[in-house]
Amino acid sequence: MKRVLSGIQPSGNLHLGNYFGMMSRMIKYQEENDLFCFIVNYHALTTIQDKKTLSKNTLNAAIDFMALGLDPERSTFWIQSDVPQVCESTWLLSNIVNVGLLDRATSYKDKMAKGLKPNVGLYSYPILMASDILLFGGEIVPVGKDQKQHLEMTRDMAIRFNQIFGDVFVVPELDIEKTNQLVPGLDGQKMSKSYGNTIPLFGPEKAIRKRFMSIVTDSTDIDQPKSIDTALYQLYALFLNEDEQKELAERFATPGMRYGDVKQDLFECFWTTFSPYREKRDYLLNHKDYVLGQLKAGAEKAGAVADVYLSKAREAMGLNYGDAIV
Ligand code: TYM
Repeated sequence: MKRVLSGIQPSGNLHLGNYFGMMSRMIKYQEENDLFCFIVNYHALTTIQDKKTLSKNTLNAAIDFMALGLDPERSTFWIQSDVPQVCESTWLLSNIVNVGLLDRATSYKDKMAKGLKPNVGLYSYPILMASDILLFGGEIVPVGKDQKQHLEMTRDMAIRFNQIFGDVFVVPELDIEKTNQLVPGLDGQKMSKSYGNTIPLFGPEKAIRKRFMSIVTDSTDIDQPKSIDTALYQLYALFLNEDEQKELAERFATPGMRYGDVKQDLFECFWTTFSPYREKRDYLLNHKDYVLGQLKAGAEKAGAVADVYLSKAREAMGLNYGDAIV
């Protein structure tokens, strides 16, 4: 049984990229593993600085994850800020990280390039993320491809820390799905909240249908075969098994296919697939106390693990001065 661990930011509506890149995989993993999963509201502070928005998004993200099948009675599921030890370990790790490493972080560079004024939190984001993983002994970390560099940095930090201070942290393995590494958004770029090209997992039917209908397609003539190297095909394929994907590819190759019809079918497929999750979500929204109780229990379990790693790290670094010979 491996400790499989991952986190997600509550920075808006969760979307299909989050679902196929990480959430659905975590939910599958929980069947045979020791799953640790959390909502990273400390990370979200780097961009959301409004009390109501952050607290609402945080609880919503937890409810969405549980509605999709994350079982808090089987797994350890918590809100990042309920285990504040992670901030202390971030400070400990900060001292073994060269600023050059953070300068090279692509997510930070991307945000800079978009003209966002970076705060120190955004800059040191990868250290908090490493802390999230190392403090709980995460062995396998399922993420989308966009998190690859962060995971490599985490591994570097664990190795470096262990070299300097002795074996304290587990060096985690990155786990990226072979086929759904990066789910495309409406415009074919990576689906991302910050690009405004997402399809949300939950929301009013009319609004979500509209999102599906706005998937960007080309102007290939109706009596020509259509390319499958497109967002529309790739998004549809996420819901299909191998045989069904072949059928869809044939449909694309056959002249006469209308993009509008495929978009409608894809929406129906999505809506049906997510129907039980919508019901579960409605149930959880009406049982908020149960959700809060589970999150609290999760934080206690996670906190106990964090305490063990943190005390090892403190000891290894010389912070327990009581035993010093003077
Ligand atoms: P976040 O909140 O941006 O995304 C959560 C997860 O969804 C994946 N993802 C995608 N996968 C495929 N295609 C896409 N278009 C797509 N968009 C998002 C992400 O790769 C991620 O796995 N830094 C992290 C959160 C984090 C974390 C951690 C993850 C904080 N601490 C510790 C793992 C372990 C983030 O911002 O993910």
